[in-house]
Amino acid sequence: MPSRSEVTYFGAGPAALPTPILESATLALLNYNNTGVGLAEHSHRSPLAAEVLNSTKDSLRSLLSVPDTHEILFMQGGGTGEFAAVVYNLVGVWVERRRRKAEAELVATGVKKEDVDTKVLERLKQEIAEELKLDYLVTGSWSLKASQEAVRLLGKDRVNIATDARTVSADGKFNTIPPEASWNLTSTKAEGGKGPAAFVYYCDNETVDGVEFPGFPERLAEGAGEEDEERLVIADMSSNILSRKVDVGRFAVIFAGAQKNVGLTGLTLLLIRRSLLPPHTPIPAPTLLHSLSLPVPPAILSYPIISSASSLYNTIPIFDVWVAGQVISSLLSRFGDLKVSGQEEVADSKARLLYAALERWEGVYRIVVQDKRVRSRMNICFRVNPGDEAEKAFLKGAEERGLLALKGHRSVGGIRISNYNAVSYEGAEKLSTYIDDFADAATAKAGST
Ligand SMILES: Cc1ncc(COP(=O)(O)O)c(C=O)c1O
Repeated sequence: MPSRSEVTYFGAGPAALPTPILESATLALLNYNNTGVGLAEHSHRSPLAAEVLNSTKDSLRSLLSVPDTHEILFMQGGGTGEFAAVVYNLVGVWVERRRRKAEAELVATGVKKEDVDTKVLERLKQEIAEELKLDYLVTGSWSLKASQEAVRLLGKDRVNIATDARTVSADGKFNTIPPEASWNLTSTKAEGGKGPAAFVYYCDNETVDGVEFPGFPERLAEGAGEEDEERLVIADMSSNILSRKVDVGRFAVIFAGAQKNVGLTGLTLLLIRRSLLPPHTPIPAPTLLHSLSLPVPPAILSYPIISSASSLYNTIPIFDVWVAGQVISSLLSRFGDLKVSGQEEVADSKARLLYAALERWEGVYRIVVQDKRVRSRMNICFRVNPGDEAEKAFLKGAEERGLLALKGHRSVGGIRISNYNAVSYEGAEKLSTYIDDFADAATAKAGST
């Protein structure tokens, strides 16, 4: 049986965790801070748990330079839970903003006080029927799933697929990001429409397909500043959070399952603009949502409810929060003032090394994403020529060298290198050497036949 130091684990999530953190975690599980009780046993309402929660939040705020305009929440339900949560919550924000506006306008036009509620309801019903849209940029399997969840919750008429990368790729698969100018976003008033969609959603890094946005899409910044014209941008950063600098202020919501770059499965990080929460934006009353035939968020997925309970609405996995806190604070101590940019440099250099190795052997390997601008630094997907048998041989040889979990996602096949933060530069070097050795042997074999 190999030891941890003999293998490099390239799993796509759950993913490798730093060994020193796992070592302290085993102690924390048994007896946390000399309390005689393990951290997973302590009450989530104890002062000790509050301290874990607050220090993890503070470290994350510092590492990612999260501005005061944004609140950090710890949620449960993973990325998949957030596919639903963003729909419930941001539709709630849309309804509340529209309700407030309708009420103010009706009062200003002299509608009698006792008639206002009925008229507001009528107007909201009409606006929902004609104007409520959610925009999705579908660039891979995860944004596709998120858009399908929105259709499930609200119906297909409300979901606008502003772009689907499969329609522009040569083979009808996900391997590119269509140009921003081609996105069919719901129009703002300035563009001649009735106001932007309730949100625009995208997945910053598509884990299955190996496509990553190079940066914040400038097209989404249009209209920023004015409340009813602004595009509320939501990003799923489950597979690239903590791997590069992010201008958090530009996003309405960022979410990420912890199990790739941050820690253990079971915890979800959420960064949300405070102005979308009470008191600035009150929660629409459930009775109003019932009357409008819109879904009411389950309490466990409601951002205002989780926020008002400081992420302690129900039994949060404090041990998971602690592990995340350890990972985040170890990045802070390693990179100092560079913060997450320090880790970005490491992630980029590992990705460069691996892509360069694959590119050296064009006849042997085919990188799935040909457009270099949108190649993921986190999930490097490629095929081995001539096909299945060669891929099996590649995986077998890799395992023999302790290079594990390189099989592509079952829906797309091929090979996938997940280059998350806990994969060391040395581990990437070992893999790069193996990529060369395998190709060298395959080329020699082909030459001799
Ligand atoms: C980008 C992305 N979003 C969402 C998910 C779904 O996350 P979960 O399994 O935590 O629900 C994944 C899972 O790998 C993912 O990679």
